[in-house]
Formats: sequence, structure tokens, C-alpha cells
Amino acid sequence: MKTNFEHYLEEKKDVFLKELGRYIHDLDIPNRLKESMIYSLEAGGKRIRPILLMASNEAYNSCPNKIYSSAVALEMIHTYSLIHDDLPAMDNDDYRRGKLTNHKQFDEATAILAGDGLLTYSFSIIADDPNLTDQEKVHIIQKLSKASGPQGMVAGQILDMEAEQTPVNLTSLENIHALKTGELLSFAVEIGAYLGEATKEELQYLNEFSYYLGLIFQVQDDLLDEFGDPEKLGKPVGSDVGNDKSTYPKLLTAEGAVAKKSEYLKLAENALSQAHAGDSTLAKLMNYISKRDR
Ligand code: IPE
Ligand code: IPE
Ligand code: MG
Ligand code: MG
Ligand code: MG
Repeated sequence: MKTNFEHYLEEKKDVFLKELGRYIHDLDIPNRLKESMIYSLEAGGKRIRPILLMASNEAYNSCPNKIYSSAVALEMIHTYSLIHDDLPAMDNDDYRRGKLTNHKQFDEATAILAGDGLLTYSFSIIADDPNLTDQEKVHIIQKLSKASGPQGMVAGQILDMEAEQTPVNLTSLENIHALKTGELLSFAVEIGAYLGEATKEELQYLNEFSYYLGLIFQVQDDLLDEFGDPEKLGKPVGSDVGNDKSTYPKLLTAEGAVAKKSEYLKLAENALSQAHAGDSTLAKLMNYISKRDR
């Protein structure tokens, strides 16, 4: 029997996939590029970022028509980040979302270009959305650029690469994870709430909530990379140990990582209540993220 929350996740995923399809199937671009972009976009995945964006919007003044372009753009950027993350020059992984990684299915040049295509296309999706005002478009594009670029995810990715074979302390590890993973999750929460007209103060608390949510997400990602089930995950386990990555279990042991996650959960919960969203689906999503097995 599925719980109400599981039904919610499925329903939101379906809504999202329908919206995603509207943006990719009619694209008039070179065939191989299109195939490669669609291959990774439709490979599966939890779609947790778009779902967070939708749930965050529902926690305030829900406005479904305004949020889909941001949700689609965000998932495209996330997917691009995974395609590049799996390349031989980075984590060198062969499986993602239960299928061969993009460069294994196609080739490295195509994978790099598919990533470039997803990244750049995402910004025009927001710029072209007739449901957003010009002011909203500029705000969202600015936030997305910051979250995904050299001050956000890309910064986290280079710090993650530099921390291979190099011991880092907890503060540095938190910084890497907040950047490489937290920034895109924060964008989801923030933009959902912004379009839902959350107050400035609520947005500030949500920002704090998302910071811890990013760390919770990545503690679990690190634990799953060591102890998870590759069948469920759709990606190999042991990749981090193989690359000698700096991870939570490496720094703190598995038990220490779990204890740290509980600390983050309390802090995130507290910030969420202050943002007047303690009883919203965001709280359920946080618990799901912290216990996920895929
Ligand atoms: C994996 O993200 C990459 C990280 C930021 C750790 P997800 O676990 O959300 O991957 P998908 O989208 O479900 O495949
Ligand atoms: C990747 O982190 C985060 C981004 C792609 C920005 P990981 O390298 O830990 O993600 P997985 O474990 O390969 O999904
Ligand atoms: Mg990586
Ligand atoms: Mg990786
Ligand atoms: Mg990982």
C-alpha cells in the first residue's frame, strides 16, 4: 500500500514529466545532440529538485503556472551536472539512473555538448515563459546562474575534485557539499517560495533550511555510495572510495555521519518552522531525503 506521501511524489513527478516533455520533444536541433540530451533527461531520477520547487510553492501562495519553467530549467541543469560529473575526467562512472552514462552510451564529445546544451537551453526556457513578468525572469535567471555557476555548483565540483586524496576538515567538507549539492536544492526551495510570495523573512529562514537540507542530502548520498544497493540507486557504489573522495563517512565514520545528519535535521526543522512551513510537504520531503535508499 502506498502512503499519501508516496502518491504525492508520483503525482508531482508525472506533472513534471509532462511539462519537461513540452520543452524537449519539439526542439529543432541536430539529431544526435537531441537524442543525447533526451537520453539523460528521461533516464529516470527522483526529480527531487522540481518536486521541492513545487512543494515550496504550495507552502505559500500556490501558483502552478508560474513555476514549471523554473522546475524544468533546474532539472536540466542538474542533469547536465550529472553528465559532466560522470565523465572520465571527473568521477569516471559508467552507470547513472540505471542506464549507461551519457559518454558510454554516446561518446565524450557528445556528452560534453549535451551538457552544454542543457545548461544554456535552461536559461532561455525561463526567459521565454509568458507566465512570468520581466522582473521575475531576471530574478530567477540571476539566482539560477549564481546557484549553478562558479559561485555555486561548479565551485563545489572543483573543490570536490581538489579534495580527492586530500584530507579536509568538517568545515571544508560542509562548504564543498553546500556548493556542489546544496545550491541547486536551495534554488528549488527559494524560487518556489519567491513565486508564492513568501516574505523576505520567510525566504531568509528557508535559505537556512535549504543549507542544512543540502548537507543532509549529501550525507545520505555519501552513505549510499558506500553502503547502498546499486540496483536501487541506478549508479555504482564504491565510486567515492575508488576516487579517494572526501566524504562524510570517510571523515566521520558511518556512525559519525549518521549522527551529523541528525544534527542537521534538527537545525533544518527549526529553520523551516520559522519560515512558517513546519507543517508543509517540505518537512516530509526533508525526511524522505534523509532516509532515501535511492
Ligand atoms: C545526485 O543527485 C547528485 C548529487 C547532487 C549528489 P540525485 O540523487 O538527485 O540524482 P537523480 O536526479 O535522482 O538521478
Ligand atoms: C555530484 O556529486 C554533484 C553534482 C553533479 C553537482 P557526486 O559525484 O557525489 O554525485 P553522484 O554520487 O555521482 O551522483
Ligand atoms: Mg562528483
Ligand atoms: Mg559522481
Ligand atoms: Mg556521490
